[in-house]
Amino acid sequence: MKTGITALACYVPDRVVTNDELSRTVDTSDEWIVSHTGIRERRLAAPGVSASDLGVEAGRRVLEQRGIGADEIDLVIVATSTPDYAPFPASACVVQERLGCSRAGAFDLQAGCTGFVYALEAARSFVTAGSFGRVLVIGSEVLSSITNWSDRNSCVLFGDGAGAAIVESLDAVPGHEIRASWLRSDGAGETALMRRIGGSRVPFDPAVHTAEDFFLTMDGKRVYLFAVDAIVRSIRSLCETAGLTPADVDWIVPHQANLRIIEAAAKRLGLPVERFYTNLDRYANTSAASIPIAIEEMVGKGLLSPGQTMLTVGFGAGLTYGGNLIRW
Ligand code: ACO
Repeated sequence: MKTGITALACYVPDRVVTNDELSRTVDTSDEWIVSHTGIRERRLAAPGVSASDLGVEAGRRVLEQRGIGADEIDLVIVATSTPDYAPFPASACVVQERLGCSRAGAFDLQAGCTGFVYALEAARSFVTAGSFGRVLVIGSEVLSSITNWSDRNSCVLFGDGAGAAIVESLDAVPGHEIRASWLRSDGAGETALMRRIGGSRVPFDPAVHTAEDFFLTMDGKRVYLFAVDAIVRSIRSLCETAGLTPADVDWIVPHQANLRIIEAAAKRLGLPVERFYTNLDRYANTSAASIPIAIEEMVGKGLLSPGQTMLTVGFGAGLTYGGNLIRW
């Protein structure tokens, strides 16, 4: 059985925040941000808007595109690092209820910025095994809710958004086959990118912790070095699995974290950087949502033709990394 993506849609908040706007509240500049990251602006959700809110919007759009009702979904997976409630209930349950997926199971998947890549493979495996017929995969993030807006090292990097895909058998419906996936973890990097407080390791202690402790922290240099290596290894391994060389791949859709990371990986692989699709200049790093947002944009621009080979590549907190090989 061939299993793949039969519809894909996204939703991003309307509010655009430029680098210049950020530089009015934190000690940074458009020049620094563009030259170090490639980011020019990002979308930010209004206060009180959660990952499930964005996910529901993306979910509505993908159901409409596929032309099916919510009650025809068997499983909802939401990949997110910014769930509505940490740690529970799952945002996927909120999405399931609000969309009206009345006969679906639902769970959240936590794999940092590699979340969408992991979720696509989870969905593919469930469908191929016959456990679920049709899976709604959502990557949704409100990273602005855990960003320390006074830390210039991290606050310039992130944005909010959501992407959704329907994964099912391609026996009776046209779609884009997920031919293989390659997923890895390097847990030695657990502290490189984290939100330290509020879990079982460091429960909230009102006598010790302040609001600042609830924000995301990142060792930027360490994540940078890891990310370049992760992209190179993921692409090489996926190609090896499929009997391809990186040069045979038509499009690489990387997690949209930083243009310099992508350029360094392209150089190491000996590939033209144009083979990597990027739109991080307008959305910044939307974590588990960045890959579907990029793919939707590529579809809108008519860049993808049937039969082309696409690799998605993710890397993020965990540290996790990996990719999917998709025949478009
Ligand atoms: N504006 C102005 N100056 C800044 C800013 C800013 N926004 N941020 C840092 N600086 C300063 C630093 O304070 C430092 O100043 P100092 O030398 O006086 O101390 C100087 O710029 C250089 O800092 P570096 O950390 O060396 O800058 P670098 O060139 O390494 O770039 C960056 C930092 C962009 C964070 C880079 O390390 C990076 O991209 N890392 C990966 C981050 C990432 O992508 N994270 C997410 C991936 S995983 C996921 O998506 C969850």
